[in-house]
Amino acid sequence: MKSKTLIMRAKDHSNDLSASSSSANKHVWMAATVAGLGGLLFGYDTGIIASALLFIRDQFELSSFEQGVVVSIVPLGAAAGALIAGRLSDRLGRKKVILGGAVLFVCGSIVSAISGGVLVLVAARAALGLAIGLASAIAPVYVSEIAPTEIRGRLITLFQLAITVGILVAYLVGLAFESSEGWRWMLGLGALPALLLFFGVARAPISPRWLVLKGRNDEARAQLAELRPGDQVEGELEAITKELSEQRESSWRDLMKPAAKAALFVGVGLAILQQVTGINTVIYYAPTIFQFTGIDSASAAIGASLAVGVVNVAMTVVAVRLLDRSGRRKLLLVGVAGMSISLFTLGAAFAGQDESTLTAVVAIASLMTYIASFAVSLGGVFWVLNAEIYPTLIRSRAASVGTMANWLFNFLVSLTFLTLIAELGRSGTFWLYGAIGVFTWFFCHRFVPETKDKPLEEITEIFEERARR
Ligand code: BGC
Repeated sequence: MKSKTLIMRAKDHSNDLSASSSSANKHVWMAATVAGLGGLLFGYDTGIIASALLFIRDQFELSSFEQGVVVSIVPLGAAAGALIAGRLSDRLGRKKVILGGAVLFVCGSIVSAISGGVLVLVAARAALGLAIGLASAIAPVYVSEIAPTEIRGRLITLFQLAITVGILVAYLVGLAFESSEGWRWMLGLGALPALLLFFGVARAPISPRWLVLKGRNDEARAQLAELRPGDQVEGELEAITKELSEQRESSWRDLMKPAAKAALFVGVGLAILQQVTGINTVIYYAPTIFQFTGIDSASAAIGASLAVGVVNVAMTVVAVRLLDRSGRRKLLLVGVAGMSISLFTLGAAFAGQDESTLTAVVAIASLMTYIASFAVSLGGVFWVLNAEIYPTLIRSRAASVGTMANWLFNFLVSLTFLTLIAELGRSGTFWLYGAIGVFTWFFCHRFVPETKDKPLEEITEIFEERARR
């Protein structure tokens, strides 16, 4: 009750002064930049391999399995990074973890670009993965701790939007270096957003929440004074202190409490389903899939993949606008239904023996509808829910478990895709993803609560109520 009053008081203050001071605005933009660059890194590095792989596999004469390893070592490293991110960031601070991630990312990009063989390439990409795991688990947490309550949701979806922009930039870079077979440039250029992230974070404020967690309340007050208009500082500091006096006691065991488990079931469930419905087979192997349709020039395939990137960005913009208007559930249910239907038609297009124009058109149209449906649903909604459904006490630990599960299944799906194609055939593989899509629809319908317009405490109550049943 008391915490509700404090939070409401802080909210009232922010309403009084919704036009923030320019210094507060500057810092909020800094936080947004961190979210943006974190997302951009995530998107660029996961997207660029689709184009680079076409040339790497020829130069290093990679088998299907080795190609799978080169692609999927990044998600595996990212799962490990996400797992350690929560504890590291509690110990060292959010900023230091993101800075460390940026350094690793610069090194990984450069080493992978100059690698002379598959082993060095795989090692460099593992380091990249670790960096991406740290950034993807902590950047949203950091942003949510810096951002004023009223724009926190928008900033989280900015992270997803930046992921899709990063993927699009990766496709463009792929296209630019395609004629010179410049896969080394494609990988090396990833160092640029990482450098920007490093300098961006170095100048960004320290999370006041983390400072309170460390008992450094005076410094927290000073940081808040830079982040908020003057008369909001004490109210918000009081609210944070109230919350963190409980959070100090939190441990992994808190994740096993019934309400936490109920929320984790939804968060981790969505994390897994977001991946096992096959999104990254399209993102990572887009040119390869286009080649299945009979388009056999590498540049046409990469160009067509560009369309995937554009649709992904455009529909994510739509999702950002609809998320707070239509609600999370409606977007999920409509989008996941669209994903499943598209996967079934994609499978059907590959079922015929011929490589006719009609087959190519149906396959490409299905891929586009699939991407569009993902972008308005599971794409952004997973990251938003993963940041908002956990009780405050365990939010960062639980969000890092969700992020880890997401990367782990990203790894499994990208590792097994080419093998599945070999075993089940093209149609069988996409029909399998389609069937998992149907399951996902029922999961969302049954278990995902509507969180639109609900204060975080009310969301926690939904899961407490579920745990009592
Ligand atoms: C997913 C990524 C995916 C991206 C595509 C994200 O939400 O977590 O795995 O590559 O969306 O836009």
